[in-house]
Amino acid sequence: MPATPLTVVIFGASGDLTARKLVPALFNLHRRGRLPAGTRVLGVSRTQYDDNGFRNELQEKISNFFRSAGEEWHETEWAEFAQCLHYVATDPTAPGGMVPLQNWFAEKEGPAGGQRLYYLSVKPELYPSMSTVLGEAGFAQENGGFRRLVIEKPFGHNGATATELNRTLHKHWQESQLYRIDHYLGKETVQNVLIFRFANTLFEPLWNYQYIDHVQITAAETVTVGSRAAYYDTSGVLRDMFQSHILQVMTLVAMESPGRYSADSLRNEKMKVLDAISVPKVNGKPQVVVGQYEGYRSEKGVPAGSKTPTFATVKLNVDNARWKNVPFYLRSGKGLKSRYSEIMIQFHCPPHLMFPLPPGEVLQCNRMTLVIQPNEGIHLNFQAKVPAVDGVRLQPRDLSFSYKDAYAGQALPEAYERLLLDAIHGDASLFMRSDEIERAWEIMDPIIQATEAADAPDPEEYLLGSQGPADAVKMMAADGRTWHALP
Ligand SMILES: NC(=O)c1ccc[n+]([C@@H]2O[C@H](COP(=O)([O-])OP(=O)(O)OC[C@H]3O[C@@H](n4cnc5c(N)ncnc54)[C@H](OP(=O)(O)O)[C@@H]3O)[C@@H](O)[C@H]2O)c1
Repeated sequence: MPATPLTVVIFGASGDLTARKLVPALFNLHRRGRLPAGTRVLGVSRTQYDDNGFRNELQEKISNFFRSAGEEWHETEWAEFAQCLHYVATDPTAPGGMVPLQNWFAEKEGPAGGQRLYYLSVKPELYPSMSTVLGEAGFAQENGGFRRLVIEKPFGHNGATATELNRTLHKHWQESQLYRIDHYLGKETVQNVLIFRFANTLFEPLWNYQYIDHVQITAAETVTVGSRAAYYDTSGVLRDMFQSHILQVMTLVAMESPGRYSADSLRNEKMKVLDAISVPKVNGKPQVVVGQYEGYRSEKGVPAGSKTPTFATVKLNVDNARWKNVPFYLRSGKGLKSRYSEIMIQFHCPPHLMFPLPPGEVLQCNRMTLVIQPNEGIHLNFQAKVPAVDGVRLQPRDLSFSYKDAYAGQALPEAYERLLLDAIHGDASLFMRSDEIERAWEIMDPIIQATEAADAPDPEEYLLGSQGPADAVKMMAADGRTWHALP
């Protein structure tokens, strides 16, 4: 726990992420008594507010979010929490723009100093200039208290820009001061992958090529791009979802157990997986299918002939002894049938089956599904005998664990609560290191380039509310496999 007073400084304080995620997470941490005593939250952006104006603006937005999500609004606790909210209107990147911040800290912290967690919740183009002006103003120097910088994704647009961003950050910041956030890793069910694998003896012996046929990782959304269309069109699903969220989940599924639970031990093991990933090719091209939901090109801000994919599937290998010949199929998209994320482990079929199957019926071999959202849980699918006095009929059934049932009345913490608290405590286990980011781009760049090449076919259109484009099904069928259907 920090010994001297903590200030969480949010750059981009008048923006969407601040109101929708960051301040609600800090408010909930305050309600749970998890914020260090005397914590201040300082909002910084160019919009003119005074402290009270900022507090009122946030109260209105956040109480509406709580109510529209059917959650109770805690008026009294908010009034108490709001006292720690402060605001400075400035553009730190403009000439003299750091002065109001320097004055604020001189007044509030005084000579005793304090701990500071800076959060860059501004558009990515500002990360280099903002981290630099902070560094130049001495805001990275840990004289008496920690100085940490949280950076939101996206971390670059490709490998070259990510490397350049890291280089710029490292001019003023030590790697240990940098917290690159991927909120997916803050999800309880994603962290549970490690507990499930490494705190149980039951599954780990099966977790390899001898028993596993393939792995599917899915992150499906029903929402379309909506008001983010103009931004999204410059990114697309491969950058937006695969480069960080999905590859990060894949590392947790595939990694070896670190010797101890520490940020660098964990990240070293994740890095080994990223290092071992290869992209299988057919006719010299990566195995990737891209799609676009019907109507995407008519979204406001999307150019008429846009080839930006809103759906993709990618096949990857992990070239090590554990995962020999076990493909990982990754899938993500918008405008799909359901909002559903899972890791599906498909085990091999029994080498010999003595039970006759009805003509045309294929055995559904064991599979384990770790559902990340919604209805978080774990399902083990196995064959059972249908009760009958004659004959033997098999039927796949589920052995299920559901968070909702197991922890009834206990809401799963929001990812941002967990991650902000970890950053305050200096635990970087769930944040990404520079080498992970750069290697992830190294994997994704050739795949993205293949889909963006001048001679690349247009993304296949798929119906809103569907399972995605037909080519994704064909890609699996060519390998003699099928997708686990979206529920
Ligand atoms: N929203 C999400 O759900 C989400 C999810 C994942 C990642 N992210 C990432 O989080 C970051 C913030 O996203 P957002 O949706 O909150 O964006 P946003 O709504 O556009 O907010 C950007 C903020 O930056 C401020 N700003 C712009 N230029 C500034 C400057 N020179 N000095 C100080 N403040 C400045 C803006 O306020 P003023 O105009 O008042 O200065 C505004 O408060 C982005 O990098 C985004 O990619 C967002």
